[in-house]
Amino acid sequence: MPEMFRKLRRNRRSFMKLCMTAVTASQLRHTLAWSDGGARNYNRVSLVGSNGRPLKSNDLEVGRNYVFHYPYVSTPCFLIDVGDPLDHAVELRQEDGQGYTWNGGVGHKKSIVAFSAICAHKMTHPAKSISFIDYRHETIKYRDTGRNLAAGEKLIYCCSEQSVYDAKRGAMVLGGPAGQPLTAVALEYDENRHRLSAVGTRGGEMYDQFFRKFRSRLQLEYRVTDIGELVQGKTEVMLLENFSQTRASC
Ligand code: FES
Repeated sequence: MPEMFRKLRRNRRSFMKLCMTAVTASQLRHTLAWSDGGARNYNRVSLVGSNGRPLKSNDLEVGRNYVFHYPYVSTPCFLIDVGDPLDHAVELRQEDGQGYTWNGGVGHKKSIVAFSAICAHKMTHPAKSISFIDYRHETIKYRDTGRNLAAGEKLIYCCSEQSVYDAKRGAMVLGGPAGQPLTAVALEYDENRHRLSAVGTRGGEMYDQFFRKFRSRLQLEYRVTDIGELVQGKTEVMLLENFSQTRASC
């Protein structure tokens, strides 16, 4: 066989091999995206009380709204002890279709959960002056996604356009226009010392849009120039009523 044809065949084989590698890599990326979907690790940050000491899981009162900031200095989250063990994983889906697993509660009763307090619709969130979004431990009535009247307990409710999230099931959307669950905060629990740490997030994030929309106000409110600075070391947990002067009732 003339050398020119041998070279052509060799190049063709290399080309085919390259294509097959590309297909395998793209399939692998898809598999990883699904199995590891929506999981992001940020700084490992200890949850502390107002005295700066690590919070213990039994320091939290069942049913109260606690707020802390994570993963950024200006992004508020809810910390909630729902009271009952949440020991079942829940499969959820982001607005872009990507699936992810929420692993339930932590703490001595497996009843403590944390979610971003930024509504997944138009990003209503607790501000220092007022909060239009909060956790409702007792049974409330609401409109489900089909606009039917429904009732439920242990829900996070946004007064802006009535999005409702189920705190018992990874902040799954039960009603209103939100297109995805609230971003879940991954918590670690130290069983020996009963301490809690935030280590990352799960699910769809809205931080980029949040920073774009509220930059000036957040800079003033938090007195920082870099609202996207990551929290390091520890983050203070406080009652919502101590963070926001007013809690909207709706
Ligand atoms: S911003 Fe929360 S429902 Fe619209």
